Amino acid sequence: MDRSAATSRSNTAGAAGPPLSRSTAAFERAKRTIPGGSMRQATWFAPHPPYAVRGEGCWVEDLDGRRILDCANNFFSLVHGHAFPPVVEAIREVVGRGTAFGLPTEHEILLTEEIRARSPRCEQIRFCNSGTEAVMFAVKAARALTGRAAIAKFEGAYHGAYDWLEVSLSPTPANWDGPRGEPAAVAYRRAMPPAVLADTVVLPYAEPALCAAILEREGPRLAGIVLDTLASKSGMVPPPEGTLEAVRDACRRHGVMLICDEVIGFRLSQAGAHPLFGLEPDLLALGKIIGGGLPVGAVAGPAERMAAAFDHTQGPPAVAHGGTFSANPLTMAAGLAALRAYDRAAVERLGRLGDTLRARLNDAFRGAAIPAQATGLGSLFRLHLTTAPIRDYRSSCPTDAAKRALSAIHAGLLERGVLLTPNCSGALSTPMGAAEIGLLADAVAGTTAEEFRERPWH
Ligand SMILES: Cc1ncc(COP(=O)(O)O)c(C=O)c1O
Repeated sequence: MDRSAATSRSNTAGAAGPPLSRSTAAFERAKRTIPGGSMRQATWFAPHPPYAVRGEGCWVEDLDGRRILDCANNFFSLVHGHAFPPVVEAIREVVGRGTAFGLPTEHEILLTEEIRARSPRCEQIRFCNSGTEAVMFAVKAARALTGRAAIAKFEGAYHGAYDWLEVSLSPTPANWDGPRGEPAAVAYRRAMPPAVLADTVVLPYAEPALCAAILEREGPRLAGIVLDTLASKSGMVPPPEGTLEAVRDACRRHGVMLICDEVIGFRLSQAGAHPLFGLEPDLLALGKIIGGGLPVGAVAGPAERMAAAFDHTQGPPAVAHGGTFSANPLTMAAGLAALRAYDRAAVERLGRLGDTLRARLNDAFRGAAIPAQATGLGSLFRLHLTTAPIRDYRSSCPTDAAKRALSAIHAGLLERGVLLTPNCSGALSTPMGAAEIGLLADAVAGTTAEEFRERPWH
């Protein structure tokens, strides 16, 4: 599974020793000007990822000429894979006429109309440039509308890099328990301001009674509850109905705003994830697929709330929102082309492929007595190296041995020409069909079985 040994292109830097692959040479060069040689923590894995040269459909070619089945899809943001012709055409049409103006364009209206037509809860929309910003603006709106500072989030859930949402992002058994067995608010990195910790309430995902009790106590000081109904970092499993009931109840009784983070989940149905769980969010954070592969984020919600938070035409707005590149025409045109092609039939077909994949993997693991399972929903999936039920962040935290095995499986899959995210999750794209799902299922099941035979993690 040593990837550098598997490639044989010569070292263009001319160093002594065995020839470097082109990706290795690129990484060596990158280390001089990029901390860690890598721009994104989430995409990095040891010794370094291959460098992409081009993508077409569900395939990517790397600097060393390898073709890789891309099941990471830029962290689930590419629902049509790479260089999807309608998106390329939409960008081509726009790019020659200017890429950003200090003026609005009609492109932004068209994309808001498309999102609203798919998802009636998204009556009004403001675009920004990332999912991080989308969640941040939704939280700021909830604060402005309620006059409260604190927010609640679920332990282990990832919502981007806004400080309050980084609380308890990756706690460990050594620090995750707080008073009376409640989840502690754990700083993500050194020197997180104490006020941030004090104003973030951490909720247990799979303990509805405890969740309800915490919300009953903390509800009066909460502006919003941020919820991703299929949080990938906390196992990629839906919340139990009891937890949803506790959330709905707290929102109703204490006037707390429900903020659904659908930066990933929007791909789960035409209208997003919330209708699948009977939720009526006060605000939504969107991103990823709505930009057609270009940088994007959006905060959305019922018109009255969105206007109260963001309408700046009647005096100073409750929330300051701008962004030099927000709603740039390239992103708007690419997003419109991508969403129009992701119609009900496409969503359902991708969901069926996801069901097939998870069933094939779970059958294979059971049949070969491999302690592993696949979770997920629709086009999203994640591999876990245990047969114990995955219910939340804590039960999805791999042991050290399982962590090492997941890295080895990820590397082994890459050897076989399949790319997952480094924690072995993935998202399907519309260019995939039965052949690609078969290839993916065989590769994941085979690599996992091989790793278990060589270095059992149980
Ligand atoms: C659920 C969720 N929310 C927010 C974000 C942040 O989005 P971005 O990376 O565009 O800032 C992500 C990114 O992966 C995400 O998965």
